[in-house]
Amino acid sequence: MTTLITHIKQLVNTREQNILLRGKELASLPCIEDAFLLIEDGIIADYGNMYELEIKVPELPKHNIDASGQFVLPCWCDSHTHIVFAGSRENEFVDKINGLSYAEIAARGGGILNSSQKLNAASEEQLFNESWQRLKEINKLGTGAVEIKSGYGLSAEAELKMLRVIKRLKESSDMIIKSTFLGAHTFPSIFKEDHQGYIDLIINEMLPVIANENLADYIDVFCETGFFSPAEMETICKAGISYGLKPKLHVNQLNSIGGIETAIKLDAVSVDHLEVMTDKDIADISSSKTIGTLLPTAAFFLRMAYQPARKLIDAGAAIALASDFNPGSSPSGNMNLVVALSCIQMKMLPEEAINAATINGAFAMEVEKEAGSISIGKKANLVFTKPVPSLAYIPYSFGTNLIDKVMMNGIFTGIN
Ligand code: NIG
Ligand code: FE
Repeated sequence: MTTLITHIKQLVNTREQNILLRGKELASLPCIEDAFLLIEDGIIADYGNMYELEIKVPELPKHNIDASGQFVLPCWCDSHTHIVFAGSRENEFVDKINGLSYAEIAARGGGILNSSQKLNAASEEQLFNESWQRLKEINKLGTGAVEIKSGYGLSAEAELKMLRVIKRLKESSDMIIKSTFLGAHTFPSIFKEDHQGYIDLIINEMLPVIANENLADYIDVFCETGFFSPAEMETICKAGISYGLKPKLHVNQLNSIGGIETAIKLDAVSVDHLEVMTDKDIADISSSKTIGTLLPTAAFFLRMAYQPARKLIDAGAAIALASDFNPGSSPSGNMNLVVALSCIQMKMLPEEAINAATINGAFAMEVEKEAGSISIGKKANLVFTKPVPSLAYIPYSFGTNLIDKVMMNGIFTGIN
């Protein structure tokens, strides 16, 4: 099917070249005013200014959409989520209001272990249904590509259950989905004093099955004081790499303990969180190929200092933005809020935030050939806004849902 979209007020992030944006490059967001977009069989076939339409599309297709007054953007690329989980943890939310810290809640068997208990008790079907609803919800909010992690199973059986759910989501959804094995999210209680025992389980029991059933694209480790050390992360990642899984890692959320240096040595695709950063950490990311993924809604929800986006950009780093959607530190997958918070709290320009949540997010989960920008040959996964006066109005008007429609593979889906 051929679809022509005409009179688009502004077509956002139009790119002929697919490049990861670093430092100053993030501030440049190519847009076309009064634009058209041609879609063939779900793929972007052409685009340009309305005055070029007659030359570029001499024969107008029957299916025509008038987008007068609307901005059209590539769908958000959310490169870090944990959307496969069971239940919720609002009791801990109240505990935090009453003064307990994230680390204190975790030490009392709350946090990840609480979600792990709930996940172990849930059937695969139940888990799939809950996750499917979350996937639909974020799609309505404009997300078209998403990375999903395991990590609430913490046993071979339950980690595999999570990864099989992610595989089913991949097969059932028209969203682009990448899967990450995060068996090393925390040590289960029975291995609290036997770290090597759990690491052996990950390496000898989980990874071979994951590789055999092709259940993951990446390997992740939560590298923090009280969780996995940089040396433990290195051991686990090297085993993952031997099965073809590239590292995408949780580092520097609570402490700076050398995780970034080790992650870069391991050629990690991305290092994610980055709330607590030394000058050396910033310099190391900036001079590496590894993408720094910032998760501002996690900092917001945990009342932590925001990630040093400006320092990273000024140092020349490639940064992406993601939601970290999970029941403990970011019970929201709303990328519009992520973009708004990045502007409001981290002083990113709207152009920088939109680039970091689209093209750089696509690079952070290696889907840049099919998503992240308006480019010929990429999927027509698009956000149509309600009438807005300017691009900056989108993060400025942070509490309002400005999405009119979402298009996946050239077909409207999330009609609000
Ligand atoms: O990315 N910090 C580690 N993992 C999650 C939170 C996990 C949880 O609290 O359930 C995160 O913030
Ligand atoms: Fe996370």
